[in-house]
Amino acid sequence: MIKHIKLNQDNLAFAIEVQREIFPYDDATKKYTEMVNGENDNNYFLVYNGDECIGVSGLAHYGADVEDGFLGWFGILPKYRRLGLGSEALRLLDETARDLGYRRMRVIFNTETGFPGAKTFLKVNGYTAESYQCPRDRVSLSGNYAILSRSLYNEPCEPWNNRNLHLTEEEK
Ligand SMILES: CC(C)(COP(=O)(O)OP(=O)(O)OC[C@H]1O[C@@H](n2cnc3c(N)ncnc32)[C@H](O)[C@@H]1OP(=O)(O)O)[C@@H](O)C(=O)NCCC(=O)NCCS
Repeated sequence: MIKHIKLNQDNLAFAIEVQREIFPYDDATKKYTEMVNGENDNNYFLVYNGDECIGVSGLAHYGADVEDGFLGWFGILPKYRRLGLGSEALRLLDETARDLGYRRMRVIFNTETGFPGAKTFLKVNGYTAESYQCPRDRVSLSGNYAILSRSLYNEPCEPWNNRNLHLTEEEK
């Protein structure tokens, strides 16, 4: 059975190791440490299948958009992929997202640098894609960004409609 273990001081170093194995070019140390120290709402998790850690997952939102949960650092370790576990972990995260009051799940995806199978994985799991190009968010104008979205309820999912995600500021 798939379950979530929230990040805490005891599992922080291990969680960073798992995150680095899944996303070798990114380092979540700063973000994870802030979460664990309570500087932000901590909705970041290790994902377990029984006693085995199989990946990481997380949820966050941007500014005042409190009904739109964004996937953060969601991934399955290479040796556990293509077994349906990612889809199960995503469904478990949906439950957490509903408990937190989100109505929609979103993913910001860089089509140039993102993991090639991830877009297919999200589409198979009910997400639909729109391009993200916001004039006030300069990096988005490269045309490399997509937002994938899914309703957490049985209702049509409003598109993100190019609202500013402030990716340019985050990159500084
Ligand atoms: C994307 C990821 C989470 C998928 O996890 P997973 O456990 O392998 O996913 P599942 O086994 O549930 O896959 C379900 C379906 O998604 C699609 N899919 C998954 N990985 C795929 C890939 N590499 N290429 C093409 N389709 C893929 C397939 O249709 C698959 O069904 P199938 O195996 O019966 O063909 C995993 O590959 C990963 O962690 N990648 C690196 C991190 C990442 O990109 N994270 C962002 C995710 S939003």
